[in-house]
Amino acid sequence: MTMKWCLLMACAVMGILPGAVAEVTFNGKIGPMLHRKCGSCHRPGEVGPFPLLTYEQVAPKARTIARVVESRSMPPWQAVSGEVAFAHDRRLEAEEIAQIKDWIASGLPRGTGNAPVPPSWPEGWALGQPDIVLTMPVGFPVPAEGPDIYRNFALSLRLPEDKWVKAVELRPSARGVVHHALFFLDNTGAALAQDGKDGRPGFKGMTFRRAGSLGGYAPGATVHFLPDDYAMALPKQSDLVLAMHFHPSGKPEVEQSTVGLYLADAPPARDLANLQVPAAFGAGMKIDIPPGEAGYLVRDSFTLPVDVDALAVSGHAHYLCRTMKMTARLPGGTAIVLLGIEDWDLNWQDRYVFALPQRLPAGTILESTLRYDNSEENPNNPFSPPRRVRWGEESTDEMGSITLMVSPVPGQSREALAQAARKANLEVLGAVASRPREAFAMAMGRRIRALDGNGDGFLEAAEIPEPQRQRALKFDRNGDKRLDEEEIQRLLETLRGEGGA
Ligand code: HEC
Repeated sequence: MTMKWCLLMACAVMGILPGAVAEVTFNGKIGPMLHRKCGSCHRPGEVGPFPLLTYEQVAPKARTIARVVESRSMPPWQAVSGEVAFAHDRRLEAEEIAQIKDWIASGLPRGTGNAPVPPSWPEGWALGQPDIVLTMPVGFPVPAEGPDIYRNFALSLRLPEDKWVKAVELRPSARGVVHHALFFLDNTGAALAQDGKDGRPGFKGMTFRRAGSLGGYAPGATVHFLPDDYAMALPKQSDLVLAMHFHPSGKPEVEQSTVGLYLADAPPARDLANLQVPAAFGAGMKIDIPPGEAGYLVRDSFTLPVDVDALAVSGHAHYLCRTMKMTARLPGGTAIVLLGIEDWDLNWQDRYVFALPQRLPAGTILESTLRYDNSEENPNNPFSPPRRVRWGEESTDEMGSITLMVSPVPGQSREALAQAARKANLEVLGAVASRPREAFAMAMGRRIRALDGNGDGFLEAAEIPEPQRQRALKFDRNGDKRLDEEEIQRLLETLRGEGGA
């Protein structure tokens, strides 16, 4: 017998034949993995519909878990670009998915030893005491059931001088119902004036002017300071607006969020800019998707006038979008995919932060491609049968763009970058103004929504001005003397048809 065989025999006797895998158990690999990758959402009080911490919680759900991890719908994470690494990536490794399947195949063994102890998730502020803490003055009731609710809350801030923000942490009082929140700044006072006008805390719609954005909150994501001395501008006299998306949880809840702002000690040395491609959420792209069309493409590009470091990327579109991709074409011919999303889901919009800043030299072309599917096969299509869908601000309209957060490299002109971005925006405005149908649709949509004085989502007869009342109520198909969402949509479509000579 050769030496090699001797070793193999010895190993086999001791039960550690090379290549044989130790049994995957809950107490061994599976429990700690689920704590790490799922526990941020699947624990009591979080947004996941059930906890996945103990053997008793996990074992009965094993098959569903296998299905959602194999299809990669869990953990939620849409960016699939293999070229750039993302910070805080919560995707499972292929090996981890294989272990979950092995565990199920071998009959869900619990394993020996103690049950794994979940990590201690932060109880208070994740980054310590914030510099500014704001709380919604009144809680907003979220019913047990019903459709998702989108609502804004204005929080008075009004600092006497400009400041810079390193991080924002939102602490919902009813975490389970807060699906998402975006933080906007308003320095016109309009948002605060609108808040509560309909008799309930907050207000609907996006009619206030945004003086800037401070990012957003996504369930399960951890809060981080911006790297280096980067910070987001907080112009003086601004109020903070929380644009929140609630998802009813099965029991009535009241949401009264608290927000913490962490300020920078000094203005940052380097600027941040958000480059949107196409600009203005695609308002200038003539988006017009015929019913049944599965491969409708929107493409646009932006050429960088200066060298930048790209820090993060995020996409935005509505229900019909299926895929989106942003590629950077460097002057030398290299192409880098900065964001690739192959199964767009409106509910999981996230900002993906690059693990390392991506240096992009002047002359780099940022190219966005978004594909929309208005066929019956798209499970997210809000209309069955499909209808013609055009650019617009309602969630059943479409829009789309990819936003790259960049910083001009020191020594490069930030004004040149700002000017190029402004030019792209002006071109869109010009394009919209030259197409009365789009301009009319934007203005009309806003005006009709504004009529809903009590904000209940219906246009009651009394809310419609006398001269138009009779004509508008012709769209009241079910005869309840008011217009519901679908009836308002029909009315808008007809008006747009008329405006679109
Ligand atoms: C960022 C938060 C988050 C993380 C992380 C997360 N989930 Fe979820 N999960 C949810 C939410 C929210 C739902 C409810 C469905 C929805 O809104 O998409 C859900 C639903 C599920 C479901 C039910 C799906 C169905 O079709 O019934 C399973 C099973 C599941 N998650 C397993 C996991 C596993 C396993 C992990 C980790 C590997 C994980 N989730 C990580 C938020 C999360």
